[in-house]
Amino acid sequence: MLYIGIDLGTSAVKLLLTDEEGQIKNIVSKEYPLEFPAPGWSQQNPEDWKRAVLTGIPELLKGFDAGEVEGIGAGGQMHGLVVLDEEDRVIRPAILWNDGRTAGQVEYLNETVGKEKLSALTANIAFAGFTAPKLLWMREQEPENFSRIRKIMLPKDYINYILTGVHSTDFSDASGMLLLDVEHKCWSGEMLKLCGITEEQMPKFFESYEKTGTLKPEIAEQLGLPETVVVCAGAGDNAAAAVGTGTVGDGACNISLGTSGTIFISSGTFGVDPNNALHAFAHADGHYHLMGCMLSAASCNKWLMEDIFGVKDFEGEQAGISADRLGCNRVYFLPYLMGERSPINDTNARGTFVGMTMDTSRSDLTQAVLEGVAFAIRDSLEVARTLGIDIRRSKICGGGAKSPLWKTIMANVLNIQLDVPESEQGPGMGGAMLAMVACGRYGSVEEVCGKLVRTAETVCPTPETAARYEERYRQFKRIYPALKPVFSAMNG
Ligand code: XUL
Repeated sequence: MLYIGIDLGTSAVKLLLTDEEGQIKNIVSKEYPLEFPAPGWSQQNPEDWKRAVLTGIPELLKGFDAGEVEGIGAGGQMHGLVVLDEEDRVIRPAILWNDGRTAGQVEYLNETVGKEKLSALTANIAFAGFTAPKLLWMREQEPENFSRIRKIMLPKDYINYILTGVHSTDFSDASGMLLLDVEHKCWSGEMLKLCGITEEQMPKFFESYEKTGTLKPEIAEQLGLPETVVVCAGAGDNAAAAVGTGTVGDGACNISLGTSGTIFISSGTFGVDPNNALHAFAHADGHYHLMGCMLSAASCNKWLMEDIFGVKDFEGEQAGISADRLGCNRVYFLPYLMGERSPINDTNARGTFVGMTMDTSRSDLTQAVLEGVAFAIRDSLEVARTLGIDIRRSKICGGGAKSPLWKTIMANVLNIQLDVPESEQGPGMGGAMLAMVACGRYGSVEEVCGKLVRTAETVCPTPETAARYEERYRQFKRIYPALKPVFSAMNG
């Protein structure tokens, strides 16, 4: 049988077709625009996602027997606010996970409602990208739009709704709304009230690996698929990527270098970081995880290459950075091009090069950007270490993980071994694997991970390079605290 995995990303939707052994048969990617209507704001039109998915699937199936397709599962960009009216029409562009317009609402939630109360209700505090502050923003700034809301959805849930007609969500994605009581897996009545919404406006819960419905007849016809195709609830892209890389069970770790950069630590039991620097979310395997999320990771490199250097050949730009240069760069980069979430939670933070001299070269800047992202991931890893979580190895996935240089830098900066799975398609593969469980092909998420995930290579740190990076990281750590008041004065 065949399964379709949907990775509803920020720059594109990536669709994959796989069999139940995890052999990828085809991949189709469809880009869509991203709007930045004001500095730090970020939004997208859900109709663009819909068009990309509905035109992409028939392309994906070309040359294959569509009758063999048994299930579809999606992993999607998290936290985005999709609002539908009485007729299930999209009311306004979706406000995305990396949008920083809600600084005022975040301050109200964290300072006036209080971090302790938020953490008790939802296991998390407010971050600008989370969904609840966006609802408060909409209520204040767009009361007319707010009054028309009939359903509140997350990005991949909107796609699932288009496919099945069911308003569903799963616990991993719902965790990032700041409306879910993560531990007990139910909506927090108090949080809904605080945001001026009711439970009727929220989608219905499913576990990620459960069937939410089958294809609507008109959609099945449009896609050329049988109406019997099962759609599962799917997951937030990080939980889906964790499934795709086999990051399940207690203490397993996955690092994703996509538009965002995340470090994801799976856990069999519920737990909260007492300082809430790491998110405490539900996992797609039915359990829980902790996660640090930086807002710009591979996007920092893309920005430097395409927007600043004007090149497409990322590999070529990295070619001159030899192993002996690792840990010796005197230029540092703060990767805060969209402000930052974990662990500093600062919408005013900005991307910054520090330490340039007349002999600084173009490749020093390239290297500094790759290193800056690795140092910022290390910041979240350090938080996990203070919680007694001992991580010695991790999976790695996402577009950035295609670069051998970046993987080497990551392994040495974090001083851990990195396992690279055979399939780079983290969220898409995870989505398809969740669909396999929903169709009964495998008995559990753990089982499908055990059967399908294979390691292609392991990247190990070398003691000398890791030691040089240890010293560099100590310097890096001093830069943001020194600049924080400057960022605040510049943007405040
Ligand atoms: C996670 C987060 C990002 C998005 C990217 O909290 O905001 O990783 O899910 O798609």
